[in-house]
Amino acid sequence: MLRRPRRNRGSDAIRRLVREVSLQPSDLLQPLFVREGVGIREPIPSMPGIFRLSVDLLAQEANRCASLGLPGLLLFPAIPKSMKDPLGSEALNPLGLIPRAIGAIKESGSPLLVIADIALDPYTDHGHDGLLGPKGEVLNDETVATLTKASLVAAAAGADLVAPSDMMDGRVGAIRRALDDAGRIDVGILAYSAKYASSFYGPFREALGSAPKSGDKKSYQMDPANRREALLEALLDKDEGADILMVKPALPYLDVIAALRAATHLPIAAYQVSGEYSMIMAAHQNGWLDATATLLESLTSIKRAGADMIISYAASQIAPLL
Ligand code: PBG
Repeated sequence: MLRRPRRNRGSDAIRRLVREVSLQPSDLLQPLFVREGVGIREPIPSMPGIFRLSVDLLAQEANRCASLGLPGLLLFPAIPKSMKDPLGSEALNPLGLIPRAIGAIKESGSPLLVIADIALDPYTDHGHDGLLGPKGEVLNDETVATLTKASLVAAAAGADLVAPSDMMDGRVGAIRRALDDAGRIDVGILAYSAKYASSFYGPFREALGSAPKSGDKKSYQMDPANRREALLEALLDKDEGADILMVKPALPYLDVIAALRAATHLPIAAYQVSGEYSMIMAAHQNGWLDATATLLESLTSIKRAGADMIISYAASQIAPLL
């Protein structure tokens, strides 16, 4: 045999030499769940190792993430039911949970990028990402107007990037124009471009109490069967001014990540969502697989598919191993 591919796998040294992608702490972004209160670190049962943190504990957590070499974090608000309403009004409160959380991290002098997720579902009593019309339909343009205001609130609080996760049409362009008009050309947009109507979001919705009270999200989030549509969405977001394009979830959609990688020069992010994380942790707890090895393999695969960065609940758990 002239060709013996195993020669290049014979030792750790040769394997390292021919390795095509390698995961770095700088590839990973850590999502954090934020809540009211003082000194609270509340475990999320469906997401082992993940907590809802009160604002006063955030600076310390951000400091830990920075010391591990992570470049940034995403913030998600777990707000009390009593503060939710049909319009998601709390999303526009300049003194709300997320603006205070951003402030706490920034005031601590953290070098991390703080990314504010922009969507209404943590704030609406019906759990949808938008305002509802008379027949319960999710209204597009009215929702975009609110998301635009929420983006300005996050920017004013100090967010480095806003990340619209709602999948309304035209929101990236509207947010870009509003930020520019407000003189905030410095604030970037990480667009959830190809966000699928996925069952893998279950644990996240439990963490925030944000599951839709009726219906599903299929009229705005994408059909898992569609890949061309992901390209359409991504190229629209690019034309509307997105700085980074995202595919979500990650592992079940590696082909979509690869397709976007081939279709644009913009950076591509992938979101290893709550269900992807929880499946691995649950199997680990049952002794069925090893969480660390499985997480490393999943994250490496997502990078190999073409993602430049990965949002992962395991970011701070995995970073020390890289
Ligand atoms: C809200 C949002 C969701 C996630 C991120 N932002 C849930 C949803 O769309 O229902 C899911 C993240 C995860 O599962 O980890 N728009």
